[in-house]
Amino acid sequence: MYWPGVIKHFEEFLPVTSKTPELTLQEGNTPLIRSYHIVKKIHIGSLWFKFEGMNPTGSFKDRGMVMAVAKAKEDGKKVIMCASTGNTSASAAAYAKRAGLTCIVLIPQGKIALGKLSQALMHGARVLAIRGNFDEALKIVRYITSRYPVALVNSINPFRIEGQKTAAFEVVDWLGDQPDYLALPVGNAGNITAYWKGFKELSARKIIKRLPRMMGFQANGACPLVTGQPFEHPQTVATAIRIGNPASWASAINARDESGGLIEAVTDEEILAAQRMLSEEEGLFVEPASAASLAGVLKKNREGYFQGKERVVGVLTGHGLKDPDIAIEQCKDRIEEVGASSEEIVERLGIRNELV
Ligand code: F0G
Repeated sequence: MYWPGVIKHFEEFLPVTSKTPELTLQEGNTPLIRSYHIVKKIHIGSLWFKFEGMNPTGSFKDRGMVMAVAKAKEDGKKVIMCASTGNTSASAAAYAKRAGLTCIVLIPQGKIALGKLSQALMHGARVLAIRGNFDEALKIVRYITSRYPVALVNSINPFRIEGQKTAAFEVVDWLGDQPDYLALPVGNAGNITAYWKGFKELSARKIIKRLPRMMGFQANGACPLVTGQPFEHPQTVATAIRIGNPASWASAINARDESGGLIEAVTDEEILAAQRMLSEEEGLFVEPASAASLAGVLKKNREGYFQGKERVVGVLTGHGLKDPDIAIEQCKDRIEEVGASSEEIVERLGIRNELV
C-alpha cells in the first residue's frame, strides 16, 4: 500500500495549512515488531519493539524533521540549523536537501557516531565540530537562530514535537489499542514529550480509553532527569543521549508524573548487553542509545516491577548501522581468519563427519 509520509498521512492531527509545502521521504509507518525470545525472560504479557531505525535516515528524528523543515520553508526561511549528537544532523541534512534549503549543524567534536557523520557530510550540510559538548552546541544554536534569519530545527521547535507524536499514533494503530507501558531512551527529552502529547491527543479524541505509563531511561553518566541536577560533563557509550541539560526537561518530568511512569538510569554495561541481546536474540540491530529502552525494562523486571500481563512497547530509536565502531568493538574477536581453502574451512567448522 502506498504510504505518503507523516505529514500527509496524519494531516488532521498536524499544523498543516494550505501553504505548507509538500515534503516527504516517506518517513513513518515503521514496524512494531513482536518479541519472540526476549519476552520469555520478562514477567509481562507481551513485548513489542517500535523499530524507528527503519525511517529514511535511520532514526525517529525524520518524523519531526519533515514537519519542522516544511514549516521553516513555509515561513520563507532559506537556512536551517541544529545542534546534534548525530541523528538530528543526519535527518536535518537530508530534509534540507529535499526541501531545497541550506543546513548547518553543530556537533560535539569526536563524540558522534561515524554513520551519522557520514550522512550529514554526504547530504552536503555545513558541519561544524565544536570543541565542546551537545549542551554547549545547543546554546550557540539558540543564540544564532534568535538573532539571524535561520530556522532552529532542534526539538525545542514545537513542529518537531508535532511530527514526532505520530509515532504514538502508529503504536496504537498497529497494536489496535494503547500499550500499558512505553519505554524509551531519553536525551534532550523531545521524544518522551512527543509520545506523551500523542497519546494524550488520542485519549482526548476518545481513540484510546486509557493512557500508557511512560518509562524513560537515561544513561548513568548522563542522567540529569534522575538526579535533578544538570551534568556538566555527561559521559556514556550511548553518544546519542550524552546530554547533561535536556532542553525539554520540564515536559519530560510532566510526562513521567502525569502518566504515573518513571525516568531512571541504566549503566553503559546494561545498555551494551541489551544491544547485543536485541541483535543476537531477535535479529534487531540498533544503536546503543536505542537499547536503553530494553536495558531499562530488564532492570525494572529484575526489581519485580511488572505484574505479569502487561503489554510493553520499547522504542528502538535508531539503527545499529549508525554506530559501527561500537558494534565491532564488542565482537571483533569473533572473526576467524582462515586460508582460502574449502578443506580448511570444513575442518575448522567441524562438519567433516556429518557430511560424509
Ligand atoms: N535515541 C537516539 C538514537 C537519539 O539520537 C536520541 C537523541 C535519543 C534517543 C533521545 O531522544 O533527545 O528526544 O530525548 N538524539 C538527538 C540528536 C539529541 O541530536 O540526534 P530525545
